[in-house]
Amino acid sequence: MTRRVVITAGASGLGLAMAQAFLDAGDRVAICDADPDAVAALPDTIRASVADVTDEAAMDGFLAALETDWGGADVVISNAGIGGPAGPIETLDLADWQRCLSVNLDGAFLTCRWAARVMRAQGSGVILLTSSISGLFGFPWRSPYVAAKWGIVGLTKALASELGPVGVRVNAICPGAVEGPRMDRVIAMEAQAQGRTEDQVRAGFTDGVALRRFVTAQEVAAMALFLASPAAAAISGQAMAVDGHTERTT
Ligand SMILES: NC(=O)c1ccc[n+]([C@@H]2O[C@H](COP(=O)([O-])OP(=O)(O)OC[C@H]3O[C@@H](n4cnc5c(N)ncnc54)[C@H](O)[C@@H]3O)[C@@H](O)[C@H]2O)c1
Repeated sequence: MTRRVVITAGASGLGLAMAQAFLDAGDRVAICDADPDAVAALPDTIRASVADVTDEAAMDGFLAALETDWGGADVVISNAGIGGPAGPIETLDLADWQRCLSVNLDGAFLTCRWAARVMRAQGSGVILLTSSISGLFGFPWRSPYVAAKWGIVGLTKALASELGPVGVRVNAICPGAVEGPRMDRVIAMEAQAQGRTEDQVRAGFTDGVALRRFVTAQEVAAMALFLASPAAAAISGQAMAVDGHTERTT
């Protein structure tokens, strides 16, 4: 069966890797993203719209148009998130804290509110939320991101309980550090905040991981495919790490 798959922040990074994985599986994929250039660069096999997940009107417009054309959705992936500032909490600005929580949590709220309504009416569906290994551990110097990603896990568990009785499964995916430009930026930011070299910060990430490496976007997308599949029919309310087994965070 061809599934209708909706992914936020799907024009690059993990969202695009997930979009590609579902396309390869023969599904229909719609994404939104805040970056108009990245949206314009996508192949026309992906239905792509410009929308910032924190903008209620933009999200309602994106989702209402989908609902009109597709009649609903089988898989909704609330994936948008920004890393927020790095540093001791006493150095952080309220505006940066609020923006980090807003992209991660307001975006998830707006996306899941719609998904819950259409899936409850269908009596079926799968909701996935991208948390992070920061939603399972208390990484220092990243308090806004950590708080936001634990919030995603809490939202996942609440929605799994709300929607399980009507046949909708809800799970979070918790990627470890993913190879790519985003982690390069995080490492540069943390190196500056901690007065260490980028190599030291990178080693700090991999030394605490049993597999001693970052993960790939394709490995995270494979977890999304699995959780959306009938093989995961009994799995709901879980925070699934794809991280090579994090043992230490400092
Ligand atoms: N990359 C990692 O190492 C990593 C690890 C754990 C969790 N995550 C999480 O995975 C998700 C995706 O991360 P990524 O690494 O692909 O991100 P990224 O920084 O590569 O950005 C992916 C896309 O998100 C879009 N985006 C940013 N803010 C947006 C907004 N407000 N509304 C709509 N789109 C927006 C960007 O335009 C971009 O196209 C995030 O929730 C992130 O927190 C990433």
